[in-house]
Amino acid sequence: MIVILDLGSHHNTVVARAVRELGVYSEIYPHDITKAELLALPKVEGIIINGGENNIIDGVEIDVLPEIYEVGVPVMAAGHPKAKCAKSIEAFTDDDVAIKAAVEGFVLEECKAAKEWNMKNFVAEQIELVRKQVGDGKVLLALSGGVDSSVVAALLLKAIGERLVCVHVNHGLMRKGESENVIEVFRNQLNANLVYVDATERFLTKLEGVEDPEAKRKIIGSEFIRVFEEEARKADGIDFLAQGTIYPDIVESGTKTAKMVKSHHNVGGLPEDLQFELVEPLKQLFKDEVRECGLELGLPYDMVYRQPFPGPGLGVRCLGAIERERLEAVRESDAILREEFKAAGLDKSVWQYFTVVPDFKSVGVRDNARSFEWPVIIRAVNTVDAMTATIEHIDWAILDKITRRILAEVKGVNRVCYDLSPKPNATIEWE
Ligand code: XMP
Repeated sequence: MIVILDLGSHHNTVVARAVRELGVYSEIYPHDITKAELLALPKVEGIIINGGENNIIDGVEIDVLPEIYEVGVPVMAAGHPKAKCAKSIEAFTDDDVAIKAAVEGFVLEECKAAKEWNMKNFVAEQIELVRKQVGDGKVLLALSGGVDSSVVAALLLKAIGERLVCVHVNHGLMRKGESENVIEVFRNQLNANLVYVDATERFLTKLEGVEDPEAKRKIIGSEFIRVFEEEARKADGIDFLAQGTIYPDIVESGTKTAKMVKSHHNVGGLPEDLQFELVEPLKQLFKDEVRECGLELGLPYDMVYRQPFPGPGLGVRCLGAIERERLEAVRESDAILREEFKAAGLDKSVWQYFTVVPDFKSVGVRDNARSFEWPVIIRAVNTVDAMTATIEHIDWAILDKITRRILAEVKGVNRVCYDLSPKPNATIEWE
């Protein structure tokens, strides 16, 4: 493995990815790692000190410990020219091609690292590690059907089979066909031990009359934990809890130099007396590596490449207080949009696309009479990291077809609008 030491660069993950793309494993560590800690890591073949503008902590310029130069492997410094290194270069900029070229020369020529990192080896290694960790114990997993939890489920199934207990909670805010698809793939095709909980009534009752978006999110989040906890108590003899934690979650919560520190998301909030040891087999992978891992494990392409979907589901797209009929309008219009995007090949190129139904009506005409119905808003955006986004320029003929279908097939809708706003000033979701 190649170790990347974070000395205040924005580009740690890009550098780590560039190393892995060469077929060499890499991990990111804080700048003040000790020689002993480095020697304890498995087979370190080189160190990249990655300097940048975030190298001041509490007014003091930080540096790596001098002893790390004595680990006995080549060291490259980017943006830290004073060091005694095999190679010293300018700090990395946003130029990915330059990063790749510099990394390739160092990793393959200076370090002579072996190209042994690939998904096949990763999967085989993780299966062994999970078997070792779990022994003959049982593992519980909240399987939402999202990419990360689906890939964890597929991997654990290979490792421990029916000793994996998957719980799929349908909060009634899933997209059309989503829970059915989870059941079809995991219970019917992969023979997973899957507990399906239809908690629709419970969630929708709790959400009745709640208008505030944050209050809605809190109710959905805490009710989810409650339902999951009930199932955890029912399932006998569980010792472990599996989570779809991925590498960015760990890097973002563990860095000492980044200005914005995101807390590590997990099924946190489970009561103290439900104490499980965690199983996190994807915690070393970046998102696209998780997808590759899913394909390696035989999951369907659509499941592995599905677009991002918020945890609170359609609940954030049925604006204001959720009403059942309007929620159906969100679900049905979203299904039509997805179908038509797929037919036009846009599902492969557009990052995220969905519909929103606001909580107001306007006058229209239906069957020669006045109607008073909701509008449907279509949103389709492209982004790299979801921090900023641009809108997709959709062909009028496609928008026209989607509009005609929504007006004909979705109950209670008399208008369709296309949202032209980039982020900022808008956000991707409407809340
Ligand atoms: P915004 O609306 O903030 O959304 O521009 C940025 C991205 O985050 C997604 N999103 C969520 N993802 N849990 C998630 O896993 C959530 O609660 C959540 N809320 C928003 C949103 O769909 C978009 O891709």
